[in-house]
Amino acid sequence: MNNKKIGIFDSGIGGVTVLKEIIKILPEEDYIYYSDSKNNPYGDRNDEQIKKICNNIVHILLQKNCKVIVIACNTASAKAVKFLRNKYKKIPFVAIEPAYKMVYDYEKNEKTLVMATKGTIESEKFKLLYDTYNNNKTTLLSCVGLAELIEKDNREERKKYLEHILKPYKGEVKNVVLGCTHYPLIEDEIKECLGEDIKFFNGAPNLARHLKNILKEKNLLGKNSGKIEFIDSQNLKEKEERFFEILKEENTRKGNKKISKLIDLK
Ligand code: DGL
Repeated sequence: MNNKKIGIFDSGIGGVTVLKEIIKILPEEDYIYYSDSKNNPYGDRNDEQIKKICNNIVHILLQKNCKVIVIACNTASAKAVKFLRNKYKKIPFVAIEPAYKMVYDYEKNEKTLVMATKGTIESEKFKLLYDTYNNNKTTLLSCVGLAELIEKDNREERKKYLEHILKPYKGEVKNVVLGCTHYPLIEDEIKECLGEDIKFFNGAPNLARHLKNILKEKNLLGKNSGKIEFIDSQNLKEKEERFFEILKEENTRKGNKKISKLIDLK
């Protein structure tokens, strides 16, 4: 059994929505989560900046004994995963992407709204995904600044923002692809604007299953204590508190014993 860790990163705390799916099915792994608040938001940065930022993070995570890297940020995945896989050939990278294929597989006859950062929507990687699974009933919405409003946890400002950008789609769309890992944190607020009956598509549960398969295949599954270490690039204490608060909330809501075990061991 392997005692190395799973490294996971995002531009902030949004990637917690990915981590919570992973720990449900891999409770016996140790984790290091890297929140890059110093460079947040990634959404408006160019490809070269993102590659450089991600390279630095991967370097840190590998020095801290990680066996696999999970890119829990759609923007970073879209712009840097190819570069990273090329550079670190021996390390497996598991990268989130907007769950647009899921719409094609399950609900392709419904009108669909893809919410993501400008960087993700304009990327080559997403363009390929969109062209492959286009249901011709899809609107792509660049939510410039939304990840930041979630990161800052400014509910009032966010409400105004969401009402404004989502107004044209109320009663118009049935599927919403959450193409940024911060957005699952505000599902309720999105519902308030678009209606109760919308259906969300989030790639995190599939990513978690994929990660487990990769670890199995490569004989890298661990049997560890399930520790979660949190690093923020600016050492912001409030980020750490909010991160563990979100994991705990999830635990209370779903009664997930596995998550509670992991948090206790932090
Ligand atoms: N969670 C990142 C994503 O999935 C946030 C983007 C940002 O920092 O702008 O795209």
